[in-house]
Amino acid sequence: MKFCVLTLFPQLVEAGLHESIFARARKKGLIELETVDIRDYTSDPHRRVDDYTYGGGAGMLIQAQPVYDAWRAVVSRFDKKPRTIYVTPQGRVFNQKLAQELAAEENLVFLCGHYEGIDERVLDEIVTDRISIGDYVLTGGELPAMVMMDAIARLKPGVLHNEESAETESFDNDLLEYPQYTRPECWHGKEVPAVLLTGDHKKITAWRLEQSKERTRHLRPDLYARYEDRQTVIAWLSRQKRQHIHMMELLRRGLGEVLCFNPLDGALLLEKGGAVMLTCTSVEAGERLLDRCPIDLSGRLFCVCSSEIIPVLYERYHLSEARGCYQAYYTRGVPLPVPKDMDIRRLDLSFAEEIFAECHELVTWEELKGRLTARTMYGAFMQSDEGETVLAGYIGTHSEGALGMLQVRTQYRGRGIGAALESFMINLALTRGEIPFGHIFEGNEASLRLQRKLKMNVTDVILWWVS
Ligand code: ADE
Repeated sequence: MKFCVLTLFPQLVEAGLHESIFARARKKGLIELETVDIRDYTSDPHRRVDDYTYGGGAGMLIQAQPVYDAWRAVVSRFDKKPRTIYVTPQGRVFNQKLAQELAAEENLVFLCGHYEGIDERVLDEIVTDRISIGDYVLTGGELPAMVMMDAIARLKPGVLHNEESAETESFDNDLLEYPQYTRPECWHGKEVPAVLLTGDHKKITAWRLEQSKERTRHLRPDLYARYEDRQTVIAWLSRQKRQHIHMMELLRRGLGEVLCFNPLDGALLLEKGGAVMLTCTSVEAGERLLDRCPIDLSGRLFCVCSSEIIPVLYERYHLSEARGCYQAYYTRGVPLPVPKDMDIRRLDLSFAEEIFAECHELVTWEELKGRLTARTMYGAFMQSDEGETVLAGYIGTHSEGALGMLQVRTQYRGRGIGAALESFMINLALTRGEIPFGHIFEGNEASLRLQRKLKMNVTDVILWWVS
């Protein structure tokens, strides 16, 4: 990913980002940063870039010409016009969701104002987004631009060393992070909470959730209200848990949001990957939810809990295909055995082509790349007859959280690799306090056998993926 910063103070930006994690990511080539001095583009012989404001008023304004020429010089090097962010207290307020959205861009240009601002005419011409970092006024846009670049950069794979992916973290589920402790066990007479020393993951996860809730309630009542709204929907869904486990997990894990909810009609959810999930008490109720949906749902993939609503989706959104599937989920909470000699590792983007060659029916190229980038795919490695280490099988989670994309190469079948991979993923989900689940398309008997072997609950209720 490349950041370009148009500024009158390039040294300030360079100095602010030349240490720690951002600098390391730059060295590793994960992030590029280019600072461009707007003053280098002024046509004024005295290198002036500012002038008085028409109509009077205090202070000076940056002129349109140097800004425009600096921007042109930068964007002429890109294939497509990049998003250009004017950093200003008059913009929409930056948050984690926006950071995630911007992290998906290949190139971002930040335009930093100073003095009283920039001539509006050039802003109209080049700016795609106006973003503020909060309701207070700083002396210039450089610090806010640095704040945003830092928040965006840490979402890129490989930038953080942390093993946990940045896919689910603080704010995603509207809760603040719980308190954490390191050695020594006792400091200034204060003990580390006993539960953290028990090694009991279930108890630890429950304790952390309580702490997060407590903190959020105290420090961010606004976030807590959103969390409670979400809990109301989860509680409603849990009345038919077998049917709704995928929607409950989506909300619990912070992988999606509620578009529309009414206890009499049902719930309409949007997952981060763009698919829509619908459950409704009747066809009419489903139509009411779709009518009240605040965004356009055309062209999206749907997952629905009843076949009766499918014709409505076909007609409204010009869809034409529905595939039924069973839902399998694991509620026993006990980790499953994974053979010790099974070499299972997280996969990165370098495996994309190798995997896509075999599973193009299960995922699109874009989705596969997204799953690898989000670091949610794992592979089992074996020694080939030639003594090489090869990828024998793989598994991942889809963007809505379902386990899937499980494949074992033909020559490695019958060795328990599929079961080991799925058990590994189930155990991983358990350590995060999640309920592992997956969708099995009708007719996939081999997968159904595997789910039953792993003691997954397999519902007879059929969900429908409509595309
Ligand atoms: N420039 C000055 N103050 C700012 C703020 N709060 N956010 C973004 N840009 C700014």
